[in-house]
Amino acid sequence: MSTITPMDIKDRKITGPAVTMLTAYDYSFASMIDSAGIDIILVGDSLGMVILGYDSTVPVTMEEMLHHCKAVSRGVKNALLVGDMPFMSYQVSEEEALINASRFLKEAGCDAVKLEGGVSVAPVIGRLVRAGIPVMGHVGLTPQTASSLGGFKVQGRDIERAKAIFQDAIAVAEAGAFAVVLECIPSDLSALITEEVDIPTIGIGAGPRCDGQVLVTNDLLGLYEKFTPKFVRKYADLASEIKKALSAFKKEVEAGDFPSLDESFFGGEEAVRAIKAQT
Ligand code: KIV
Repeated sequence: MSTITPMDIKDRKITGPAVTMLTAYDYSFASMIDSAGIDIILVGDSLGMVILGYDSTVPVTMEEMLHHCKAVSRGVKNALLVGDMPFMSYQVSEEEALINASRFLKEAGCDAVKLEGGVSVAPVIGRLVRAGIPVMGHVGLTPQTASSLGGFKVQGRDIERAKAIFQDAIAVAEAGAFAVVLECIPSDLSALITEEVDIPTIGIGAGPRCDGQVLVTNDLLGLYEKFTPKFVRKYADLASEIKKALSAFKKEVEAGDFPSLDESFFGGEEAVRAIKAQT
C-alpha cells in the first residue's frame, strides 16, 4: 500500500518540489524505482512496446495490464501506483470504463488509473472520480490514437490543435483528475496549460515548465533500443552493459572458466562412490 496519495500529488502544484514519475512493469524494477524515492510509478501501456514487443500500445489487453500491475504492486512501498487503462477499455461505455478501472484497484493493487484523451473522455473521468477512483489524464500526443493524430509527432504547433489540447487539459482538470500528463507538445503550450489548470502537469517531451516529469524507465536506462525519442535523456546505457555481461558469460562457459571452485558445492563423495560401485 502506497504512502503517497493522489491528494499529496495534487498539493505539489502549490508546495513543490516537482513531481517525479517513472514506468515499471515488474517487481524488481518497481522495488528499485520505489527505493529511489520516485513519487509515482506508472504501469504504462508502453508495456506493449518495451516488454511485450508489439509495434504500438493498441493491442495491449486488460489482462496483460493487470498481470503486470500485480507484479509491480508487490514491489511498491511508498510511490503512488497508477495503472494505464488500455485502448478500448474506457471508450465503449461509462459502465465498462467503471468496471475496468475498478479492476486496477480491486485486483491489481493500483491506487489510481490513467487514461488518454481530453474533452471526449471528460465524462468518463467524472464518472470514475465520483465512484471514488482517482484518475490521471493524458493529453497532447496520445499514443493509443497516434495514427489519427498523424503518427508519433509533436502535437499543437498549429493554432487549431494547440487550442484543442488546451481545452483537453482544462476538461480533464474540471472533470476531477488529480494530475495530467502532457505528451510531446511545445514548451510554451505546456507552460500555458501549467499556469491555467489547478492540477499538476506531468510532462514527457513537453519541456521544463511543467509541475513534474515522466519518462519510460527503459528509455532512461538505455534498455529499449528500437527507437529513442528526442526528449529522452539516457541516464545509463544498460543495453550495452547487459550485452557485455552476456557475451562474457558465453565466453567463460565455453572456456571452462565458469563456474569456479568457489561457485560450486562440495560433499556427498560417499554417495557418488556408492552409485559408481553399482554401475
Ligand atoms: O504508457 C506510458 O508509458 C505512458 C507514459 C509515456 C506517460 O503513458
